[in-house]
Amino acid sequence: VLAAWLHGLLTPASRAARRQGHLSQAVALWSRAHRQRRAWADHEARCQAQVRRAVAACESRRTVAVLGSGLWRDVPVDELAGHFARVVLVDVVHLASIRRRLARSGWRHVALIERDLSGFTEIVENGAAHDPLAFLHDLDGLDLVISANLLSQIVVHARDRLGIDITPDPRLRALVEAHLHGLARLRAPALLLSDVSYELRDRAGQVLEREDLMQGAALPRPLAAWDWPVAPFGEIARDVESIHRVAAFEGKTLAPAAPKS
Ligand SMILES: C[S@@+](CC[C@H](N)C(=O)[O-])C[C@H]1O[C@@H](n2cnc3c(N)ncnc32)[C@H](O)[C@@H]1O
Repeated sequence: VLAAWLHGLLTPASRAARRQGHLSQAVALWSRAHRQRRAWADHEARCQAQVRRAVAACESRRTVAVLGSGLWRDVPVDELAGHFARVVLVDVVHLASIRRRLARSGWRHVALIERDLSGFTEIVENGAAHDPLAFLHDLDGLDLVISANLLSQIVVHARDRLGIDITPDPRLRALVEAHLHGLARLRAPALLLSDVSYELRDRAGQVLEREDLMQGAALPRPLAAWDWPVAPFGEIARDVESIHRVAAFEGKTLAPAAPKS
């Protein structure tokens, strides 16, 4: 608890990121990832394998951008730093431990960008059409974009901000679609890693709750899919576990279907 508190204190974060709970959530994620490192190992290895496959398919390796780079667990940032001339890590919060790791690495070609990637203000509050990933078009030599288990977090955070109990909700769906279409519109190849749904189950395996984290948005066929025990028994309740379904998608397949005539 003390380590988590200190971590929050030592992390530079914008006032908005603090007020909106992004900093406390990042610290909570850091604590849980450490507690559940064994339960999460398979998920992280599968994510890393997808990233390696995407990197191997790149024709040139100038700039790679990672969206939701977080704790550098499901994306092997050290390997990206070895392969690419420039690595751009984008997250609403970069924790102090990550900043220290970067400083110690001596990598001058790895940059941290602090940015809210949800488009919440424009899309939900203003009801406007908006591409929260449009800034990527301005990155020179972009050869790969990896959205790293960020999309469901955008949904969960917006759901909390709006105080929504019942989902799917069209405002949340609009946020999901903005991210999917933002990735599809990029000229560079993109890889989307995201949990798409979850189930709360009791010890008898009975499903107590199920949610479509993609809010009804249409998804293409994934490259691969697997289960991620986000909260094994004892993490959120003694006799309840939370199992998330994760999938990997190729960016170009995320384009909206053409309207039928
Ligand atoms: C499940 S974690 C991803 C883990 C990370 N890929 C890793 O390898 O450790 C989700 C990440 O998304 C970030 N995030 C959540 N909402 C965001 C937003 N609106 N804009 C940018 N990043 C956000 C969180 O700070 C967190 O680092």
